[in-house]
This record gives sequence, C-alpha cells and structure tokens, in this order.
Amino acid sequence: MKNSKLVELLNKMTVEEKVGQLSQISGEPYTSENFVVTGPLAEMGIPDKLIPVAGSVLGAAGAEANRNLQDNYLKKSRLKIPLIFMGDIIHGFKTIFPIPLGIGATWNTYLGQTTARVSAIESAVSGVHVTFSPMVDLVRDPRWGRVLETTGEDKYLNERFAEAFVNGYQGKNYSDPYTIASCVKHFAAYGAPEGGRDYNTVNMSERQLREDYLSSYKAAVDAGTELVMTAFNTIDGIPSTGNKWLLDDVLRKEWGFDGVVISDWGAVKELIPHGVAADEKEAAMKAMNATLDIEMMTFTYIKHLEELINEGKVSEDLLDEAVLRILKLKNKLGLFENPHREADVEKEKELVFCQSHRKKAQQVAEESMVLLKNNDVLPLKEKDQKIALIGPFTRDENMLGAWSWRGEPDTASNIIDSMKEMISPESVLYAEGSTLDHTDENMLDEAKATAKKADVIVLALGESAEMSGEAASVTDIRLPEAQMKLLKQLKALNKPVVTVLFNGRPLDLTEVDKYSDAILEAWYPGTEGGEAVANILLGNTNPSGKLPMSFPQNVGQIPVYYNHFSTGRPVESAPDQKYVSKYLDSSNYPKYAFGYGMSYTTFDYGKMKLSKETMTDNDTIEASITITNNGLYKGKEVVQLYVRDLVGEVVRPKKELKNFKKIELKPGQTETVTFTLSKDMLSYVHPDQKVKTDPGEFEVFIGGNSLVKKAEKFIYKKG
Ligand code: IFM
Repeated sequence: MKNSKLVELLNKMTVEEKVGQLSQISGEPYTSENFVVTGPLAEMGIPDKLIPVAGSVLGAAGAEANRNLQDNYLKKSRLKIPLIFMGDIIHGFKTIFPIPLGIGATWNTYLGQTTARVSAIESAVSGVHVTFSPMVDLVRDPRWGRVLETTGEDKYLNERFAEAFVNGYQGKNYSDPYTIASCVKHFAAYGAPEGGRDYNTVNMSERQLREDYLSSYKAAVDAGTELVMTAFNTIDGIPSTGNKWLLDDVLRKEWGFDGVVISDWGAVKELIPHGVAADEKEAAMKAMNATLDIEMMTFTYIKHLEELINEGKVSEDLLDEAVLRILKLKNKLGLFENPHREADVEKEKELVFCQSHRKKAQQVAEESMVLLKNNDVLPLKEKDQKIALIGPFTRDENMLGAWSWRGEPDTASNIIDSMKEMISPESVLYAEGSTLDHTDENMLDEAKATAKKADVIVLALGESAEMSGEAASVTDIRLPEAQMKLLKQLKALNKPVVTVLFNGRPLDLTEVDKYSDAILEAWYPGTEGGEAVANILLGNTNPSGKLPMSFPQNVGQIPVYYNHFSTGRPVESAPDQKYVSKYLDSSNYPKYAFGYGMSYTTFDYGKMKLSKETMTDNDTIEASITITNNGLYKGKEVVQLYVRDLVGEVVRPKKELKNFKKIELKPGQTETVTFTLSKDMLSYVHPDQKVKTDPGEFEVFIGGNSLVKKAEKFIYKKG
C-alpha cells in the first residue's frame, strides 16, 4: 500500500480506533469470534472497548493458531487493519541456540546473524511478525539475572552483534522469504541497575551513557531495526518509558529513528510506582508526550488519551504520528495484502526444528564454549579411558536456559547419549551425584562408587535455568553448595576432574578452579548442547570461544570489567603500598578476563608492526601481526585489537576493543592479520557530549585476550 493510502486510512479512523493501534494485549480474546475475555486480561481489567480495536498481540505463535486469531479479529474490524503478532524469540524459536552471552562468546558475527536468520524462518512460518530482540544492554554486573540475554560487557562487540542480529531477522528490507521485524531493547541502559538488582535505578552521567551504553542500540537503529523497546529503569531520574529527552530528542531527532517505540510489559503504568505520575492518566500523558507509540499490557492509553487530547494535554498530531508509524510497519510487513503473512502449517512442519537448523545450533554451541582451564586433561583420550559423567547437567537438567519460549528442554541432546554414540558405550559411566541444590547422601555415594571405576571424572554442574533471566538477580554468584560438595568429594578420589559449567552469568569460580583440572564454560548451550559438549570434550571440535564478560574472583569485586580507568593511584604503580586503588583482601583483576579462552592448540603471536608512526585526519595506519599455530590441533583464534588513548580531555579506559578477527589455522600454519586504524576509531564523547578525537599519543595492542601487554605507539595529529 502506498503511503498516501495509509494517510487516507488514518483519516478514516476514530480516536478510539487510533488509540487501539497503540495498545498491545495478549491474543486470548481473539481465540473465539465472540471475543470472550477470561484469564489474566480479565483480572487486569481490560476495557471492553479495547478488544475490537487493539493493534497488536504479544506471545501468540503457531501457524494455525495465529491465522485463526487474525481471522477472528478481522471479521469484526471496521477498517480491516490486521493485527501484528510480536513475541520474545531471544535465542531461537524452537531450535534453541546458546544464550546470547554464549553467542557473544563465539566472537563470530556471521554465526550471530545465522542464529537470527534461523529464528526468523521458524517464527515467520509460525505466524510471528516481530521479535523482541536483540537485547543489547551493556552489562558489567553478573548479579543481574539478565546478563544472559546480552552479548556482554563491551560496546564494540555488542554493536557488531546488534547489527548481525538485526540483519539476520530482517534480511535486506524483507526481500528474503521468512523474515521478521526486530525490536532492539531495552532502551536505555537497562543493563546497569544499581547493585545488579533487576528493575533498579540506573544512575550515570549523560557522557557515560553516550560513551558506553547507547552505542549498541544506535548500531541496531543504524542497521534498520523497526522497533525499539523502552527499559523499565530511570535515566537521570526519569523512567525511560516517559523520557522525552531519551525517546524524542536522542532516539528520533538525533539518530533519525522513524520506527515504532514500544514500552516493556506494564512499564507505562509503572510510572506511578516510580513516582513520576500521580495516576494512570498522568502516566499516559507522560508516555505519549515522550513519543512512546505502543503501550504493552496496560491500558492507560485506551482509558485516557482521548480525554487528554480533548483537554489539550496531548496533541492529536502526536497520536496521528504514532498511529502512522504503526500502520507503516504493518504495511512494510505486507500485512494489508496478506494478513497471514508467512504463517503456513505445512512449512511450519517442514522448517521448525528441522535437521539443518539443529545442525546450525550445534555449530554455534560448539563455537560458544570457552575453555577456562586445562591441565592437560582435555581432550579426553577415550580409547584407553573410562569416563565417569556425573552431575545434574549430564542428562536431565534444562540446557536451553531462560527465554526459550517455544523450545522444549526434553528434545535437547544430552551429554551421556551423545558421548555414548561417539565412543564405545562401555567407556561411559554415569551417576547424577546431586540435584542442583540438594545433597542426597545415597546419590553422593553412588557417584563416588562410579567415579572410582573411571580414569577421568567429568562433572556437569551449573545453575538451574530459573536462576538467571528476568527477575533473577542474586547476591551470591557461586555454584550451589550441594554441587560444590560433590565436586570436592570427587576430587578427593585423586583422579582428573573436568568441570563443565551450565549457567547464564559469569560465576565466581575461585573454588571450582581449586578442585578442577579443566573447566569448560558451556553456558546454556541450547538444543544441541549435549552433542556440542561431547564433541569438545572428545576433541572432535577444538574450543574457540572467548569470554564476552569478565568472570570476577569474588562477588565483592563487582563491577569488574576490562576497560576500566587507571585512577590517580593505579595499583600497578606501587602494588605493595597502602594508598593505591586496591582491595586489602582481593586482587583488582578478574579470575578470567574479557576476551580470554583457551584452545587445545597454541597460538604464538609475533611482533606487531605499524605501517607508520603518525596518523593525520584522512589517513590510516595498518597494524599487522603474524600468528602461528604451534600446537597439534587445527584451531580457531580470535585476534583482538585494543587501543589506549594516553591523554584525553577526560580520563580514558586502560584499553578499548576496536576490532577483532576470528581465524582458523592448521598445525604449523602462520597467518598475518592486519587491522586498519583510523581517526574515527580513536574518538570518544567529550564533556560537551560531542564525539571527537584528541591529538596525541596512542597505544595499540593485538592479542588473544584483553590482558595483552605488548604495545606499539603512534601519534594522531590534526591535518
Ligand atoms: O520482551 C520482554 C522484555 O524483555 C521483558 N518484559 C516482557 C517483554 C515481553 O515479553
């Protein structure tokens, strides 16, 4: 439909029909032609007048189900404006990929895009039009349960994945079949709640917000995301959902975003408990005047916008602009021509959870796993070893993790069956050993007896899927006591212990390290997790994941992240002195740093060469380094480029990731990796909120993790 037709349609709409477009509810009323409301919507007191005019539905999927919802709705719709179906497809629809933190650990944006592409295909044939993804909130606090939904602590890495996800979902302007629209979230800085407590206050300067936190949302906007979801938190005292500066001045005017802004669930009404609105009417006014288009799952707009317009407190133009944005989105997705879009029962059977998607899930899972420690135990030498697989995650625990809406934990592969298929079943012994958080002495005894018969013990430990995700913040990031007891008692048998971890956040692994000879971080690896773990343990796949978020030594260090400032009294200047920035009882450094991850082979880095010593405005410098695989296995390495600005107008981080390349080398093979440095890569947000580059000296580092020390220097000068 042409834009002019959309305007004609808008002009035919009553205010109530317009406001309906701005309201999102669950699909329950449309399951029958009579629009009967029982369940949660009834409890929430949904106004009757909203049901025939609501513009979108969340959380409905299934080709046949969504076709029926659409038909039932359209039968009663005066202007035949189709519903748009939105849902949380976060790391896969039914084929579940590793959690986004694991996808970030691949440092492979092509794979990131693949996960989104597969999700789009499965969602589109199942009748979903929009996913509430990617979640690109920058995170530095593993106490926060939602770190699993992000790609980690670094803005550059997050930006690259933000683009990759948007491109994967949306394709090139929907020209590919089976695309869906993406909705970047949670705008803004939801990943920085005080104390890591979900929904808590976010407090930072505008400069820091712009410098560190906004850029990954901007990357998604620049990649063409159709929607932006607001965050639950405040920004400088104003909740994002009613924050005109954030939504209108920054997002729309400064960044040129012309798509749809949707609230998070119930967030408009939450302006009341936040204490910035006295009642629902004021909440509606603040959200609408901030240019928030869609209110999710509360009803302040439908109850009060018409009245607010009549009173002159909200302009009808603002309402029209919002409605037009929603109609444009529906039009872009082709819903006016085909309200069922790609919902197709036959295609759904053929494509959802198909073999080729599962194969991709396995590949991503394998690249996501991070080898944190290896005292020569891995890969397992299965031919002459008996392996005891012990722990709650060996067979029965949910490997999908939170936000796997349509995923079925029981259909995921498990480590035992996968391993038995790969090696002789007699080599694999099994005992559960412990539940997630409870010691059963009989189970423990059985585990010890099983372990005694083996040459090596593989312990699959972790957090239950419910321990991370939304509203799952914690103050203790260690493994549950019962699992630690299992680990300690098995280690006492004096056999090599390999610990495989399933979790959604960086954990305090200080104790785990003491009792393990090898540690593999498997995250929640998804549908093909068991197969992927088995392949890595047996050396069929060489691990190549690198941490996208630092693992602290203890909870007291949090926040601990690689790109911190030096301070006026850096500990490195005088480690033994008292009056330097340090703890009396802990080091400043994380247990496992950002960018860190081992391989079964060894990569040796040569000496870095810079093409010049000085860079001017339209100039670039090439930084090159040779990397040699000096080990026995073919392997992938993430080569990371960091820069430090030695003197700035404001303090600058000790290192900042500026680029990376994942390469694959055979044993004995050498490759030269070259990165180009340009003026823009050296810029940062100045006190006047402008992005500029300071002339002066810079250090460049290239290495396999953020601890890389060897640097070369160059100078940037204007001209
Ligand atoms: O998309 C989510 C959001 O991330 C958290 N609150 C609920 C939304 C819709 O399900």
